[in-house]
Amino acid sequence: MNNKTLERRIIPNKSRILKKLDLCKIFLKVNFRKIIPRPMSRIIRKPIQGWIGPDISALEVFGADGSGVTRDYAHIVSSLEIWEIDKKYENELKKKFPNAKIKITDSFKEVCETSEKFNFIVVDNGISTYGSYCEHFELFPSIFRIMEDSAILTVNIIPSVSKKMRKKWPYVFNKLHLEKRMSFYNSDHPENLTASQMIQTYEQLCKQNGFRIVHHFVMKRRFFLHFLVMHIQRISRKQILFARA
Ligand SMILES: C[S@@+](CC[C@H](N)C(=O)[O-])C[C@H]1O[C@@H](n2cnc3c(N)ncnc32)[C@H](O)[C@@H]1O
Repeated sequence: MNNKTLERRIIPNKSRILKKLDLCKIFLKVNFRKIIPRPMSRIIRKPIQGWIGPDISALEVFGADGSGVTRDYAHIVSSLEIWEIDKKYENELKKKFPNAKIKITDSFKEVCETSEKFNFIVVDNGISTYGSYCEHFELFPSIFRIMEDSAILTVNIIPSVSKKMRKKWPYVFNKLHLEKRMSFYNSDHPENLTASQMIQTYEQLCKQNGFRIVHHFVMKRRFFLHFLVMHIQRISRKQILFARA
């Protein structure tokens, strides 16, 4: 058998095998999503709705096209507002979430200006510095003005990043990023924090703004990224008086 005939025999087989492999991949992907739910789907399976009641007014502070996290919780909320700075996502967001209010805006400015209030706020922020901002730090303290008296706030946190990951994402934990983390988390080792050290910062921010964290938990997302989910409540006058007594 010459080389050409052999090739003709092998290649159709090869493409058939590749097609089968592709089908397998699609099948596995579909079923993996069912078997291993994504982190935000796991969050909404927890009894968090008991924290704020069934009427959920949600805000996605950094929208992109909504495929990262919004699509995992959009079906359980009563209303949804999505903020995103980049206009290129507007049409896709409108298509994917026809009942949502989409705002093309700078979220750091919007949080200071809007008169709306929400009880489920998802902050799926960038993972380093961008423009003059860093992670979600500059949303504080203004984020408290858009929170209902009892609300869930979810932010992306990065306790630490392995050497391998830092090589892959060199902008994570660059000099400016570490300086900003040092000041936000009030730590002299901002590259290596524990979740409980980080929570102290959010607890302090809450306290300074008349709120408190009632429940919280951390859910790993991927690589070095985690969701910090906090149930935050406004401190009533009665509680303030009680604390002073
Ligand atoms: C991590 S992605 C968000 C992913 C999204 N939550 C999802 O479910 O697919 C971060 C997004 O924040 C947007 N962004 C960056 N700076 C912003 C700003 N100042 N105001 C609003 N959006 C901003 C980026 O354009 C990007 O689309």
